[in-house]
Amino acid sequence: MNKIPFGPTYEEMLHPSTIDPIVRAKALKAKDENELDPINLFNITWKNSHGEVNKIVLPKALTGVDANIVVLLGTYFPSGSHKVGPAYSTLIEGCIDGNIIPGKHTILGPSTGNFGIGVSYICNLMKYDAIVIMPDNMSKERYDRIRKYGAKLDLTPGTESDVILTLQRTYELKKNPLFKPLAQFELMPNYRFHRHVTGNSCVEAVKGIGNGRIAAFTSAPGSAGTIAAGDQIKAIFPEAKIVALEPYECSTLMNGGRGQHRIEGIGDKMCTLIHNVLTTDFIALINDDDCVRGLKILHDGTDVLVEKGVPRATAEAMTNLFGVSGICNILGAIKMAKYLRLGPDDNIVTIATDGYDRYDSVLQDLERRYLETVPFVLSRWYDDIFLHADTNHIVDYRPDAQKQKLFAQKEKDWLPFGYSKAYLESMKKMAFWDSEYEKIHEYDALIRKSR
Ligand SMILES: Cc1ncc(COP(=O)(O)O)c(C=O)c1O
Repeated sequence: MNKIPFGPTYEEMLHPSTIDPIVRAKALKAKDENELDPINLFNITWKNSHGEVNKIVLPKALTGVDANIVVLLGTYFPSGSHKVGPAYSTLIEGCIDGNIIPGKHTILGPSTGNFGIGVSYICNLMKYDAIVIMPDNMSKERYDRIRKYGAKLDLTPGTESDVILTLQRTYELKKNPLFKPLAQFELMPNYRFHRHVTGNSCVEAVKGIGNGRIAAFTSAPGSAGTIAAGDQIKAIFPEAKIVALEPYECSTLMNGGRGQHRIEGIGDKMCTLIHNVLTTDFIALINDDDCVRGLKILHDGTDVLVEKGVPRATAEAMTNLFGVSGICNILGAIKMAKYLRLGPDDNIVTIATDGYDRYDSVLQDLERRYLETVPFVLSRWYDDIFLHADTNHIVDYRPDAQKQKLFAQKEKDWLPFGYSKAYLESMKKMAFWDSEYEKIHEYDALIRKSR
């Protein structure tokens, strides 16, 4: 069998209203009834059944700033995180290019978890065998999901910041021609998905809020796929500032830091190949434990939030919407709102990659570490972490000298994997990224034709 699986185009992921109505109706039904029905590929989108972007505008009693902080919610994607989008896009492009043949190839998914969950899920729906290569010390819920969707696990030692070992393992395994990696750190479908689908969804998300424009976009890169949304945001709102966030404990882009940290999914000790550093305006550091404690407050501190002035319905709605990296992105947005002195007309957009469902074990660990997490402690944390977020550790990366540092980091990271200096050089021009983006039209036409 070598039929290309039936799935959506980039345009349909952005605008599900353009999907054939019969397919769309079947997909929406399957979302509630059977998550493993392949028609769920048509639910890979930021939009809900009414065509609205899944988002929350954070209450100002939480953020303490005048600017509107709008968070897009990845938890509503099939498999529970938006990483399923890049996984699907990379697989379908591979099928279209004739590089990945159903029934013949086994898919490799190097990951720290959510991409692996996405790969496992997508391969289940698209009928491929899959092996997820990831560190052995991530949250337990991640391994459970991957196994549930049917992929095999190939574990390398360490945690989030040891992801380089997964790349080295993938590099070895792919010498077998029957193994095809969905290499999220290096392949452009990840860039294309986020620039087109996430970027334009961010633009739609601020309609009717503040001045309807985007003043800043914060995103903590793992693969640096999500931050590609910034390229599209900047194309539409040229004044927008794109801000990459890193753990304070692992500040690789800012100063070569390489420590262990607690924010799963980000801070992978490298400048990924698909990170367009030309459009990264600022880099800001966020303390990792603030993100874990911040999650504890939003998940378990509903009464504390209400006491602080958050409407109860909003506090209750927020309990399950974020994971640790989502809190990191929110804290980055608060920091930048202060640093850029944004006002009530201004919007900052950010992303919650996943929701609470994969972090119970992380909060159990927090309980063991802190012993006391009673309401008055959470109340103190609330003030310290959210309301009194500071503007330390923000560096302007617009000057050329800073860009050169990022280019140098990229060379150091990618020359060893066989990429040529000429290719890396070509990435120093915006034309490279724009022409990669334009390929969505070709792929969309071919995806349609393959049906
Ligand atoms: C929980 C979480 N947050 C953030 C990210 C970073 O997203 P990206 O890889 O698009 O940079 C990831 C990536 O896997 C993730 O799993």
